[in-house]
Amino acid sequence: MRVSSLLAALATGSLVAAAPSPKSPKPSTPTGDVNPFEGKTFFVNPKWSAKLDQTAKAFLKKGDLINWAKTLRVQQISTFVWVSRRSELSNIDDAIAAARKAQKLTGRKQIVGLVLYNLPDRDCSAGESAGELDSTKDGLQLYKDTFVKPYAEKLAAAKDLTFAVVLEPDSLANLVTNLGVPLCERAADVYREGIAYAISSLQFDHVHLYIDAAHGGWLGWDPNLPLAAKEFATVLKLAGEGKKIRGFATNVSNYNPFNALVRENYTEWSNSWDESHYASSLAPHLEAEGLPAHFIVDQGRVHLPGAREEWGEWCNVEPAGFGPKPTTNTNNTHVDALVWIKPGGESDGQCGMAGAPRAGEWFDEYAQMLVKNADKSIFKFW
Ligand code: GLC
Repeated sequence: MRVSSLLAALATGSLVAAAPSPKSPKPSTPTGDVNPFEGKTFFVNPKWSAKLDQTAKAFLKKGDLINWAKTLRVQQISTFVWVSRRSELSNIDDAIAAARKAQKLTGRKQIVGLVLYNLPDRDCSAGESAGELDSTKDGLQLYKDTFVKPYAEKLAAAKDLTFAVVLEPDSLANLVTNLGVPLCERAADVYREGIAYAISSLQFDHVHLYIDAAHGGWLGWDPNLPLAAKEFATVLKLAGEGKKIRGFATNVSNYNPFNALVRENYTEWSNSWDESHYASSLAPHLEAEGLPAHFIVDQGRVHLPGAREEWGEWCNVEPAGFGPKPTTNTNNTHVDALVWIKPGGESDGQCGMAGAPRAGEWFDEYAQMLVKNADKSIFKFW
């Protein structure tokens, strides 16, 4: 608007008339500064809980009643639902049906955690979780039309629930540090466009988006922090003006504690030596880019002190245990919630602990170890 017409508008009061009338549809963006987890019941995925029946039986068979009882308690804990290929889109339907049932039964509002994880050329550096789509075979278009679009339609049709969606673990972190890997270099723009499309497709008041921000041992090093924030800002800008995310997910499928009891030697001079410190060190860089500095932190599995020699060990690390139970009680104003994103007992790949099956497959021996070493908060009921 030119200055002269602005003055004219002020004089006639026509600017007031330009405000949206009550009838015009409300812009569908996730709401302001409210922690979406606050006051909600965290959804328990019955499909994951059922996998632990095997673990419970194994303890029973050995006469280990303590760990049998612990397993029953772990089965009641909330985990995220992964949608890692198109054939798994039905996982969303199952989660919606189960969450509605729980909501009806208890009268308490459920928040359902989902992971959206199917970019073309997925897992471009580690390879253990390579996906079904290939960017040289129309992967990006297929991702948009046959994965993200139906994903968004399913959530749009479930406004009676609240969702927290983690977008594409590891992908943007790979663009920050691994462009030397040819597959990552090839995938860079595909990743950006794919995630931007997912962000713009999932703009609903009841859906809260968290972009994956790797973990303290990856993007948490001081020189990486501003680069990471810039990469996230580029993608959000690509999603389009006014498009919103709630924040960032950290430590997805990794093993870092939120509050470390001991500072591991391999964290050297890093200010991000546990995930609470990582959130605090990344926050100002996000804010400098105009991004929301809110986090959820995966504590589904946490290594025990001294379990790793190097921070880079990410695969079926031992010894580890189920981490602190999901909560909004985080003691860090940047952190919305501790959550269990990687469903413990599902393998990270054919690496780490001996006998590990392929990524995502059930690894009961590992699940048993997680129960034995589980965090004590799981067994407190108050
Ligand atoms: C791995 C697998 C994926 C699975 C996920 C959760 O990343 O590649 O298929 O859904 O872990 O266990």
